[in-house]
Amino acid sequence: MKALIIALILAAAIVLMIPAASFVYESGGPDACARCHEMGTPVSRWQSSTHRKAGCAACHGDALTTDPKFHLTNARRVWQHWNGDVAERARLAPADVFAILERCRNCHQQEFAAWSTGPHAIRYKQIFLDKKHNSTRHLMDDCLRCHGMHFDGGIRDLVEPLNNKGPWTLRQAELSEQPVIPCLTCHSMHREGTLLEQRLLEAKTLGNRQEKFRPSLAFFDRREMAPVPVALLPIPVVKEGERAVKMSPDPRQALCYQCHAPLSTAQVFSGDDRTPVGIHEGISCLACHDKHRQTTRASCATCHPRLSNCGLDVETMDTTFAKVTSSHNIHTVKCADCHPKGIPPKRSTTAAISRR
Ligand code: HEC
Ligand code: HEC
Ligand code: HEC
Ligand code: HEC
Ligand code: HEC
Ligand code: HEC
Ligand code: HEC
Ligand code: HEC
Ligand code: HEC
Repeated sequence: MKALIIALILAAAIVLMIPAASFVYESGGPDACARCHEMGTPVSRWQSSTHRKAGCAACHGDALTTDPKFHLTNARRVWQHWNGDVAERARLAPADVFAILERCRNCHQQEFAAWSTGPHAIRYKQIFLDKKHNSTRHLMDDCLRCHGMHFDGGIRDLVEPLNNKGPWTLRQAELSEQPVIPCLTCHSMHREGTLLEQRLLEAKTLGNRQEKFRPSLAFFDRREMAPVPVALLPIPVVKEGERAVKMSPDPRQALCYQCHAPLSTAQVFSGDDRTPVGIHEGISCLACHDKHRQTTRASCATCHPRLSNCGLDVETMDTTFAKVTSSHNIHTVKCADCHPKGIPPKRSTTAAISRR
């Protein structure tokens, strides 16, 4: 009997210790986090980031978070910390990548809505259980480079069977509806950046000193399991036959090339490449595609006068913009494709177009 009471008291103590420990972890502001992450750069980086006015909890959760696993993990960390059992660098766990998405949404509703109605909100089941794709191409670890980069494991931990016959299933059914290209594929938070108020002053800054891209832009590199800032990402050399295609200098599109890449032959339009050649050569993906929905509707008018070179409204001309089945792909069409006998003389006076 006495043993039972002791056991009960011990059990109660353990149960109470979890909230106590997780409370130690979760209470207090950034200073409290810094007590343990002191050597870790996260806190100091956050202090000079665009998000320095958003508390840690806004993205990482706090005592009010309802998921019990969250508190258990935190209690375990207090234990790990006391034991000195800490990895060299803390890293956001894959499950937290999905949890954080909802928190980004709280503050960035417009961007979230645009992303979630665009092609990049595609889910695990759509990428990895696609019958047509799986029966023609072998599932392999490299698939995860461009979709599912945060997944903790290899392709064999994700899908079974790994053959061309199927039927295929996800080994972790809970991933089924999760996005393979979440915000953190393209954005990293703990990096230097200016606040909105400082950005308002930017209008008064000389053009060539203004920011070229938002500070958080980075591609989550699966091999490193870390984000690589856009400034360090290469813009590939793309070729049309032997000729090197003129590439837009926009550094942001380096991000697109991580996935929409040509094959190793570097030929334009091979693989998933869409580098513009012909009429739009040298123009950035982001001059036409909206950053989150990838829509193009609004873009034509930013460069084209109502009546262009041809004396026509470009939006109604025979390209894939007006009709998906058009043989004139907007990325590759040339003057000569529509004017095989040479460019006709101008009848109307048309305004000049600017190139970006
Ligand atoms: C008692 C020491 C301690 C305190 C206080 C502490 N942490 Fe941690 N934290 C840890 C340890 C230990 C890890 C796990 C490192 C590892 O995985 O090896 C960790 C990991 C993390 C991670 C990355 C792992 C993940 O899955 O998300 C985040 C984010 C994090 N902490 C945020 C915070 C925030 C925000 C605070 C303040 C509210 C905080 N921590 C306070 C010790 C602490
Ligand atoms: C508590 C509210 C809040 C949360 C949560 C939040 N943000 Fe922000 N975010 C802001 C504010 C405020 C700005 C500054 C606005 C500006 O500079 O234009 C900002 C700026 C940004 C920018 C532009 C500047 C930059 O650093 O590139 C990006 C991108 C961004 N947030 C993405 C995210 C993502 C992704 C998440 C989720 C991991 C997130 N935000 C979570 C409030 C928040
Ligand atoms: C270099 C990056 C990259 C790799 C590696 C990659 N994909 Fe993709 N995947 C893409 C891009 C980009 C698209 C969008 C293509 C488009 O719509 O033009 C895509 C689209 C898809 C789609 C949507 C349907 C379709 O065909 O458009 C499926 C399914 C898919 N990929 C599965 C896979 C699988 C399975 C693997 C591994 C065998 C894989 N991908 C490897 C970049 C990649
Ligand atoms: C705007 C959202 C946001 C805020 C605010 C924020 N974090 Fe993070 N944190 C992230 C994201 C996203 C990651 C994943 C790595 C990255 O994107 O830089 C991360 C990663 C981490 C990591 C893991 C280390 C790593 O490099 O992956 C720790 C530890 C951490 N944060 C602690 C904190 C602490 C402590 C605070 C408050 C001082 C804080 N974070 C504020 C979004 C945020
Ligand atoms: C495929 C890559 C990609 C994904 C995924 C993505 N973004 Fe972005 N995001 C971009 C690009 C590109 C920009 C433009 C940056 C610039 O102009 O410098 C951007 C800009 C932003 C900005 C700044 C807007 C401004 O006007 O300054 C915010 C905020 C933002 N994204 C939030 C999010 C959120 C939240 C998610 C997830 C719901 C998300 N993004 C997912 C690529 C992405
Ligand atoms: C992490 C990999 C990745 C990155 C980075 C990325 N994409 Fe994608 N993109 C994909 C995949 C995968 C799909 C296919 C999604 C689907 O079929 O719904 C896709 C689909 C698209 C589509 C629609 C394709 C269609 O068939 O309708 C467009 C347009 C697009 N991406 C443009 C861009 C642009 C512009 C950028 C750079 C700002 C970019 N993407 C960055 C992986 C990526
Ligand atoms: C001159 C404007 C323009 C530029 C520059 C541009 N696109 Fe497009 N893109 C379009 C239009 C228009 C469509 C077809 C209509 C639509 O889906 O909006 C399209 C469709 C796509 C599609 C899906 C349909 C298809 O053709 O397979 C992908 C993927 C794509 N673009 C990726 C890119 C990438 C990646 C870049 C940069 C390397 C880029 N685009 C540059 C205008 C452009
Ligand atoms: C960043 C600027 C820019 C954007 C955005 C843009 N274009 Fe163009 N476009 C040009 C330039 C520059 C030329 C002329 C090339 C030349 O004269 O060699 C051109 C030429 C054309 C032509 C050939 C006929 C003509 O009158 O010159 C068509 C058709 C066309 N664009 C369609 C579109 C459509 C449709 C969109 C929207 C999806 C679009 N463009 C978006 C810059 C742009
Ligand atoms: C998608 C097809 C298409 C493309 C691409 C195209 N054109 Fe045209 N163009 C036409 C059509 C259709 C007309 C009107 C019928 C005609 O005169 O042949 C026209 C007419 C013209 C005219 C006569 C305009 C006038 O005043 O009557 C000129 C000049 C012209 N195009 C120049 C160009 C140049 C330069 C390019 C490349 C930058 C180009 N076109 C690309 C379809 C195209």
